[in-house]
Amino acid sequence: MLFKKKFTFIIILSTLLSYSALFATMNDNYKYGLNVYKKGNCMGCHSWHGKGGGGYGAGVSLRTNELTLNEIKNIVKCGRPGTGMPYFFKKSYVIEKCYDTTFNDYDKSYRPISSKKFLNMRQIDAVSIFVKEVLQGKKLDKSYCEGFFNKGSKVCNSLN
Ligand code: HEC
Repeated sequence: MLFKKKFTFIIILSTLLSYSALFATMNDNYKYGLNVYKKGNCMGCHSWHGKGGGGYGAGVSLRTNELTLNEIKNIVKCGRPGTGMPYFFKKSYVIEKCYDTTFNDYDKSYRPISSKKFLNMRQIDAVSIFVKEVLQGKKLDKSYCEGFFNKGSKVCNSLN
C-alpha cells in the first residue's frame, strides 16, 4: 500500500516536472520567435497583430492562411517574387536557389526584393514557428497583445 502511494506520488511529480519543462521551452521559443518578428520588422507590413495592412508594404494577414510550417519557412527565406514580400536569407537567389531560380531568371519588375535586415536560418525557423503556432488560425487576444507590448499596456485595453 505504502509502495503504491509512493509510486503514484512519483508519477504525479514527474508529470508536473515535464509539463513545466515543456512550458518553459515553449515560452522561450515564443519569446525568441517574437523577437525575430520584431527584429525582421515583420510588423512593418503585417502589423504587430499579424492581421496585415501595416505601413509601407501592406502585408496580408498571417492569421488566416493554411500554410504548412515548411511553406512558411520557405516564404520567409525566399520571399515572393513579384509581390511586396521580401526574402530574408542573405544567400537566397545568389548562392542558394529559391523556387529553383536565381536573380538572373527575373526581369526588373518581378525581381525578388531583399529585406532591410537579413535573418539566419535559426531565426527564420523561429519566426516561422511563431507564425505557425501563435498567429495562424488564432484570434487576436489580450495575452498576445501584452506579450507584444507590455502587461497593462493601453493598446491592449479593448481586448479580451
Ligand atoms: C515590406 C513588407 C513586408 C515585410 C517586411 C514582411 N512581409 Fe510577409 N508579406 C508581405 C506581402 C505584401 C505579402 C503578400 C504576398 C502575396 O501577395 O502573395 C506577404 C506574405 C507573407 C506570407 C504568406 C501569407 C499568405 O497567406 O500567403 C508569410 C507567411 C509572411 N509574409 C511572413 C512574413 C514574416 C514572418 C515576416 C518577417 C520576418 C514578413 N512576412 C515581413 C509583405 C511583407
